[in-house]
Amino acid sequence: MPETGKIIVGGREYEYPVMVGTEAEKAIDVRQFRKDSGYICFDEGFGNTGSCESAITFIDGEKGILRYRGYPIEELAQHSNFIESAYLIIYGELPTEQQLARFRGLILGNASIHQSMFHMFESFPPTAHPMAILSAMLNSLGCYYPEMASNNRQQDLEHFDRSATILLSKVRTLAAMSYRARHGRPFNHPRGQLPYCANFLHMMFTEPYSDFIARWEVDRALNLFLLLHADHEQNCSTSTVRMVASGGANLFASVAAGVCALWGPAHGGANVAVVKMLQRIHDEGDDGTRFIEAARSGDKGKRLYGFGHRVYRNYDPRAKILREAAMAVLSSLGRSDPLLDIAMKLEEVTLKDEYFIERKLYPNVDFYSGIILRAIGIPDDMFTVMFAMGRMPGWIAQWREIASDPKSKIHRPRQIYTGSGLRSYVPMEQRGEAASV
Ligand code: SDX
Repeated sequence: MPETGKIIVGGREYEYPVMVGTEAEKAIDVRQFRKDSGYICFDEGFGNTGSCESAITFIDGEKGILRYRGYPIEELAQHSNFIESAYLIIYGELPTEQQLARFRGLILGNASIHQSMFHMFESFPPTAHPMAILSAMLNSLGCYYPEMASNNRQQDLEHFDRSATILLSKVRTLAAMSYRARHGRPFNHPRGQLPYCANFLHMMFTEPYSDFIARWEVDRALNLFLLLHADHEQNCSTSTVRMVASGGANLFASVAAGVCALWGPAHGGANVAVVKMLQRIHDEGDDGTRFIEAARSGDKGKRLYGFGHRVYRNYDPRAKILREAAMAVLSSLGRSDPLLDIAMKLEEVTLKDEYFIERKLYPNVDFYSGIILRAIGIPDDMFTVMFAMGRMPGWIAQWREIASDPKSKIHRPRQIYTGSGLRSYVPMEQRGEAASV
């Protein structure tokens, strides 16, 4: 007998089917509840609400499990690379040699941008944040491909393979150009023969007098960074991509919205906040004790960045891999970073601290990722742009999943209204002194 869930409210009993996922996750299907009862369910922040069924990524927050299309992140980190994992996330299977060669070829062949986009960078002030630039440029990119950014779902899906590789390839070019423009440096054109990460680093750091050739260790570290960020089920920015897609908007507009959602310090902006926090600890000659004390106060403004997670109540499996990768890339470059030592000390102390243990607060993906980017030479105001580059395959796959679902509906949450009750319009002369609003 299939399991059901009952809600007893207003003197009546309502019974609904229980949905069961591949890994036995369960949900009560309350899609009929409002129609049946007049009640809605309230779940601010959607922490206990499933917004969709998805076959892309599985997370078990209690056990610290993360899998892309069923493959454990640890195995992909060890054996795969960003482009192969991007194919897996988007198309659902590991590619054959031919499929991977074709995918790589489309990405290599789509790295340049239209000449007229170069001038768009001149319209931003030098202080413009790279995430603002990236979101604007990704949305503008769709204007150059009206046939695949038509907002006619069928038509946009017909061009999906091409729009996916255009975005995967050009997000790199746009990111590097935003860096070059803000630093007054000449743009570097992509080099056809360079692989994904090496091409990006070339576009970022090659100077008229010297080509930037990425060392193998640096290329490997960046590949791993991007792979580990490639998807993470229904987080804030991915849910935004699906929200925008649910209205029928094209892939370019949807990922541009995802960039904006990722920007905040509670989400993708945390990697910068972590490095700034570690730098402050270092500059103040503190060993982190003061920051841990302040974080224990519960004051939201004093939280330890890079700690805690809405889903993981265990160690974020990506953080473990990133910590090892940070140590490896620094030692391969024969360098050390005092911020890594401080980060590891913070981790060691918090893992034994009651406040963090009780709340199951562990390092998350952002805690060590900034250290790797620093070692590679990426400036910290580009860190969240790197996160967006890594998350692009996930956003693309999630857009395709909702766009190709004939049953998908426009996302439209409800609310509990707490404003004024019914009142009539008051003419100006009767309004008296304006209350301070
Ligand atoms: C990402 O969703 C995803 O998958 C996101 C992501 C992805 O790949 O897309 O994994 C990427 O966004 C990772 C998270 C990066 N953000 C940060 O590192 C910012 C610092 N972390 C916190 O802001 C917080 O932990 C969140 C936002 C990540 C999660 O917040 P929750 O689940 O809403 O936690 P909460 O606010 O309910 O807090 C529960 C308790 C509270 O204490 P009490 O009120 O119970 O006493 O834990 C405390 C919080 O005060 N707490 C922290 C803390 N995070 C939560 N206390 C100190 N330091 C922290 N970092």
